Amino acid sequence: MNNAPIGVFDSGLGGLTVWKELRRGLPAESIVYFGDGKNCPYGPKPVAEVIGYAEQAVRLLLDQGAKLIVVACNAATAAAIDYLRTTYDLPFVGMEPAVKPAALSTRSGVIGILATRNTLKGHLFRDNVARYGDRVRILEAVGEGFVEIVEADLEQTPKAEETVRRVVEPMLNAGADRIVLGCTHYPFLAPVIRRVIGDRQVELVDPAPAVERRVAHLLTEFGLQAEVDHQPQYSFFTAAGPEYRTKLEAKSRFALTMI
Ligand code: DGL
Repeated sequence: MNNAPIGVFDSGLGGLTVWKELRRGLPAESIVYFGDGKNCPYGPKPVAEVIGYAEQAVRLLLDQGAKLIVVACNAATAAAIDYLRTTYDLPFVGMEPAVKPAALSTRSGVIGILATRNTLKGHLFRDNVARYGDRVRILEAVGEGFVEIVEADLEQTPKAEETVRRVVEPMLNAGADRIVLGCTHYPFLAPVIRRVIGDRQVELVDPAPAVERRVAHLLTEFGLQAEVDHQPQYSFFTAAGPEYRTKLEAKSRFALTMI
């Protein structure tokens, strides 16, 4: 038993879509969340730079006593997870686009992957494409502008729909019936993506629930679960100043209302 917090980090607000799954699935666990905010987005930045940001996040979470760290960012996972695992002596859970469930469940044989540039270039994703690419057609696209819209709280605007349509419509026209949300910011745009999909039979695939299950499994395996009656605390840190921290808290409350 261990009542120390689970650490979670992302370049900004996106990891809150994972945070809310952890909070729902593991209600006795305290969670400390670091949303960088200052260096967001990570997706287009040089890999060495992103490794540096990930390291800064991990150090802060360790200072807060984290017992396990969730890299709730596909781009940071792609860049840094190997380095983090070999450098720090605690369990890490990373994020990668859920190619496998999409490839195994598609009926049309075409799946779309939405992610940032670093994720699509990373070896975790390329290995998955090599593994599943011969049985399904895999369409890849950078969600150009998606992260910026989520960071600016513009999901409810016509600009959001226009930005999403530009990227998602070509996938739909090419016959994709599964769209993988390969960036933790993108689930905030799920209602907009669903509007663009309309009445087509297309499912969105979000790996966040699988991450929660993986965390639960590791906590048990390492004997790190909080006591059942432990009163959890949720705290938020950022590299971007007090206003951004307020924003993180507000977006976390919003994340809890999402289906
Ligand atoms: N939320 C991050 C991810 O899952 C990406 C956002 C960014 O580019 O910083 O990939």
